[in-house]
Order: sequence, then structure tokens, then C-alpha cells
Amino acid sequence: MCGIVGAVAERNITAVLVEGLKRLEYRGYDSAGVALLTEQGALDRRRRVGKVSELQAALQAEPLAGRLGIAHTRWATHGAPSERNAHPHFSGQELAVVHNGIIENHEELREQLKGLGYVFTSDTDTETIVHLLEHTLKSYADLADALKVAVKQLHGAYGLAVISARQPDRLLAARSGSPLVIGLGLGENFLASDQLALRQVTDRFMYLEEGDIAEIKRDSVQIWTVDGEAVERESVQYHEGAEAADKGEYRHFMLKEIFEQPRVVQRTLEGRLGSDHVLVQAFGPQAAELFAKVKNVQIVACGTSYHAGMVARYWLEELAGIPCQIEVASEFRYRKVVVQPDTLFVSISQSGETADTLAALRNAKDKAPGQGGYLASLVICNVGTSSLVRESDLCLLTQAGPEIGVASTKAFTTQLVGLMLLTLALGQVRGTLDKALEAELVDELRRLPTRLGEALAMDKTVEKISELFAEKHHSLFLGRGAQYPVAMEGALKLKEISYIHAEAYPAGELKHGPLALVDSDMPVVTVAPNNELLEKLKSNLQEVRARGGELIVFADQQAGMRNGEGTHVVNMPHIHDLLAPILYTIPLQLLSYHVAVLKGTDVDQPRNLAKSVTVE
Ligand code: AGP
Repeated sequence: MCGIVGAVAERNITAVLVEGLKRLEYRGYDSAGVALLTEQGALDRRRRVGKVSELQAALQAEPLAGRLGIAHTRWATHGAPSERNAHPHFSGQELAVVHNGIIENHEELREQLKGLGYVFTSDTDTETIVHLLEHTLKSYADLADALKVAVKQLHGAYGLAVISARQPDRLLAARSGSPLVIGLGLGENFLASDQLALRQVTDRFMYLEEGDIAEIKRDSVQIWTVDGEAVERESVQYHEGAEAADKGEYRHFMLKEIFEQPRVVQRTLEGRLGSDHVLVQAFGPQAAELFAKVKNVQIVACGTSYHAGMVARYWLEELAGIPCQIEVASEFRYRKVVVQPDTLFVSISQSGETADTLAALRNAKDKAPGQGGYLASLVICNVGTSSLVRESDLCLLTQAGPEIGVASTKAFTTQLVGLMLLTLALGQVRGTLDKALEAELVDELRRLPTRLGEALAMDKTVEKISELFAEKHHSLFLGRGAQYPVAMEGALKLKEISYIHAEAYPAGELKHGPLALVDSDMPVVTVAPNNELLEKLKSNLQEVRARGGELIVFADQQAGMRNGEGTHVVNMPHIHDLLAPILYTIPLQLLSYHVAVLKGTDVDQPRNLAKSVTVE
């Protein structure tokens, strides 16, 4: 999704801005632009459709230099991806703005501003902001004062950065619904929508909170709340290793992140397991007291994180005996929900900034416990500084490290580990989980990184299988029980990076309709651990074979499944059935990766998609 970078320094900051944009490329975008205040005191910009490399080429052909500037990668919402719609947007030659989010009352504002004589040169909602600010500056000479007044007229979500040719020593920022972080340097300061963009220049950050307006100068930062009250925001040191932004020996970030899974799962378990039990305090000091009261769980998430939640529902009901509901956040947030007493609201998110999930959490917190509200909120999240973490009562961080590939891989498996820990903790505190089973699962969790390594060792076999998809346009993914969400995740991976249409079904649903699609052009991918549903699954697979469908089966080595005509079986290491969803995810990730490479798609930045979906 859109990315923002800004800088105010004593040196030329063009390279800093462009490098920042490159670091945000993983978020997904369709055009890029930069505006600088030149040595002559004028605003100038370059904008290009396509990759940041196109913008770099434009800057090489026609260089721009300056000590104050803003830059942006745009993911089109209002107006097609085109140079005229790319940010930064100008009002006359005095003001430039970049913006993430959506201004919902842009049409009304556009009419008002046109009436005042402003001429629009783009179809974007963003352009209304820059003209509105220009108009407000006529009554409030100071840029910060004008911005405080102007943002009050904006409805919707924004993270925005502003520079003015008339006040050349400052960079202004405002946050409401779209994250912004200030990077603190020595005699220079920066702004970005994600700290990763600024790791090249600093490791000290200040996170803006909802409603904050900031004035960033070379040697000072001043912040006000939405009500204009001056506030201090804590500055924090960021410790993540620089290796995250580097592909190392791998061809793509996605492959690197797939192979990181044994290590990051290990990290997610560290300090959270006792000898034979889960350490409940891993969820925070008040977790034990709260968990004892939990009678229901409501999970809300989007995309891959939603699939993780679907697996957790099987675990929570089977292991902890807690009724669990799960819903995609974009639906949940607009539904009138009846909250059962003592329900724990659980959100799951890699980024912690997904607009729908965040809105769902905020709705959930609207009512107090005991007055139709939730008992408490808990988030399973990968970014400790994110809005979801800051706004939830409890959190468990997944320790996956930055995930750069748009297709979520290591975030998913670490979320599953976090959700298994939550299940065991709830079962333990409520006394509904058998102690011996908890000890067995804790043991199995310790062995999980090794098992994941064994699954990754099958990479070459999976790569060979991927050739079956080279000419295919459609595919089906089947699973039963907790493997059904794993099949859904496998199908999502394949469609998002290879653009092959993939649908997932619970295997038992096949004959209720989708079987009609099966022929030799429709590969059917199945995950088959050795559990009590195996024989039923085998019958479903027979139904596929009888219709000429080609089967790719990832099966437990003890499941007794053999290769045959039209049946390709890949033997998986044996694992405790309750942890099988984590293990069986690996070959599906590898499969979609290799199919995408064969198809020659942009694996790390698939078309039309964004890493962190910060707008509705
Ligand atoms: C999955 O590969 C996607 N990138 C997407 O579905 C993602 O999981 C979803 O947008 C939710 O993001 P979050 O985990 O950051 O909230």
C-alpha cells in the first residue's frame, strides 16, 4: 500500500528519499514520486508510473537536489495509476503533500475548493488536502497552525507529510488512521510510514499516535494532539537486524522468508515454554487473572491471518473446550454483533496496521465488559510498535522479524505457534486441558523447528511437482478438519503470486458441487496427515481420480499413500496431528513459490496487491 518518506537535513537528501522508497517497495504500489525544495527555493518534483527504478532513471536524466523533501509510492484508490495522479501533489508552487489513506469527503471538498478558484490537476482525493491547506494558510500564516485547522475538515484516514517553499526549515506531518514514524538523526530528522524505510539513516524512532500533528525541523520535533495540546512522544531504539532488508543468497524475499521458518518459530517459542507447560505470563502480567474468566473467544483478522485464526478455532474448541467464533474483519466491523458474556476478543495481524482489523478492535472496545462489551482484547502480532499492539489489552509478539514478501509465509506459521500457545494457556488456566496432553504438546512444539527443517528439505521434490502447473489456469485445494484452513492458505498463496485461479474446499464438500469442475486440466492439491479423517479423505480423492483429475497429495509417511497414474504423493515427516497444520503449510508455500517462478511473475510484489492494507 502507499508509502511515505520525508527528510529535513543540512545535506542533499534525494538519495535518502529514493532509498527509503525502495525499502517500502515490498508494500505494493503502482507509481512513485519525489518533491524537493531546491537550492533556488522552489518546489520541484519528479513522478513516474511503475517501479521506483523508473523514478531513479528520471532523476538521473533530470537531477533534483535539496535539503527538504517528501517522497511517495502510490497504490491507486482514487484515479488510475498515472503520472498526473502520482504524489506529491502541489498547490501552486508553494505547497507539496504526500498522503496515505482515503479522504472520504473529497468530492464535497473538491467542489468547495473549485468554487474558491483552485484548479485540480489530478483525480485523487489527496489533491483536496493540499489546496485546502493552501486556502487555510491565508488565515493562519504558520504551517503547523494551518495544518491543525485544515485536518479538522478531513473525514477518513490519513497519514500525510507537507512541505512549503515559504517555510523551508520544516516538514509537517499528521496522522489519523495511517501510521507515521519520525526517524531521529543528528542534526537531521526524517519521516516515514514504516521505520524500515529509515533504517539506513537511523535506529531511533518516535511513533505518532492517532490525531497527532508534528513539526519536524533539523534539530527539533514538536508534536500536538488533535486538540492542539503539545505532547511528548517517547523515542525508542529499534533493534531488528539489518539483514531483514537483504535477500542474502536467495532469489526472492519470499523464498528467504520460507526458509527462515525453523528459526523464527524457535524465536517465537523462546521464553514461553516451561518444562511441561506454557508460561501464561508470556501474554502479560494480568493474563492469568483474565484467562480464568474467559468463556468464549471471538477471533477477527484478514487474509492469511484469518486462516491462522480458522486453525485456532479447531484448537480452542478441541483442546481448551472454549467456544470460538471467527470472522473476517471487513465483515465483522460493520455487523451488529451479539457479544456472549466473558468473551475474549482476539485479533491476528502480521503488520498490526490492517485498517479493517484495527477498526474491528476499536468497535470491540466501544462497550465496557458487563455492558455488552468484550472481557478484554488480545492481539497476536508481528510488529511490537503497531497500532493493534498499542490499542489491545494483551499481546503476544510473533518474532518473525520483518516480512518483506507481500505473500505472508513466516508470519502465518509463527501466528499458528502463537495461537497454539494461547490455546494451551487458556486450557491450563481454566483447568480444561489435560496436563499430560499439554506436556506432550510442549514437547512437540520444541521439536517443531526440526520438523519444519525436514519439510523444507523437500524443496527440490516440490519444485519438480510445480511443473504440473506450468500450463494450468485453475486448481483445487482440499483439506479436512484443521487442514481445511491450511488448504485455504495454500490456495491464497497460489493465486496471489502465480495468478492461477485456486479454490479451497473441505474435502467432504467436493461432491456437493465443485466435483463438476474436475477434469485433467484441474490439478487437485491435498494435505493428508495421518489422522482419523484420513480414510474419509482417501475416498474423496478416489472421487477425483475417477473423473480424470490429477492429484498432488502431501501425505504423512505413515498414511500408506502411493504414487500412481495421475497421483503424485509427497511423503511428509510424521508429526503430532494437532501441529500438522503448521508443518503442512510449508510444502504449499514452496509449491506456490515455484509455480510463480515458472510463470515468471513478480514473486515479492505481485500485481495489484499491497503488503499492509491500511485503507478499507
Ligand atoms: C497474504 O499473503 C496477504 N499478504 C494478506 O492476505 C494479509 O495476510 C492480510 O492483508 C492481513 O494482513 P495483516 O496480517 O498484516 O493484518
